[in-house]
Amino acid sequence: MSDEKVLITEEQIFKKAKEIGAEITEDFQGKDIILVGILKGSVMWMADLMKRIDLDLAIDFMAISSYGDEKQSSGVVKIIKDIDIAIEDKDVIIVEDIVDSGTTLAYLKSYLKNMNPKSISICTLLDKPEGRKTLVDIDYKGFEVDDVFIVGYGLDYAQKYRNLPYIKEL
Ligand code: IMP
Ligand code: MG
Repeated sequence: MSDEKVLITEEQIFKKAKEIGAEITEDFQGKDIILVGILKGSVMWMADLMKRIDLDLAIDFMAISSYGDEKQSSGVVKIIKDIDIAIEDKDVIIVEDIVDSGTTLAYLKSYLKNMNPKSISICTLLDKPEGRKTLVDIDYKGFEVDDVFIVGYGLDYAQKYRNLPYIKEL
């Protein structure tokens, strides 16, 4: 690919999915896990990651928005689609594309906690630590990135670029 703004290639992501998938497989032996993907950004990561987890598992999705079409988080989290399956006494792994301010995940974690799961872990493909405003514990992290706006592999700008198989700086 001759795009000079590519930050993370498809190959690097596949390798990471294998590594994190193996870690989760080891950490959750004998557990009843539900992967909760956060739409829409996590779709590609969710698909590649779950293929690498060698356990019986269930998946669900939530849609949450704090961005609109802006590059800066509005700080307001809105649930657009809730989970459908019961998570009480289950081990939940939230699968996110990127953690920036942390607002979305902090909100989501406390929201899901009210449903009494056995545990909640967080798995994100990308982490932008410089953007953090709210502390969140990330259990599984793919790559740290600088505070630049990135798109591709599920991540969008104004709903575009999600279909790129790699991650690039906008
Ligand atoms: P937070 O609440 O600020 O942590 O926002 C996290 C959400 O913002 C992610 O799930 C993404 O949807 C979006 N986001 C943050 N940074 C970027 C970026 O660089 N590109 C695309 N989306 C981003
Ligand atoms: Mg998102």
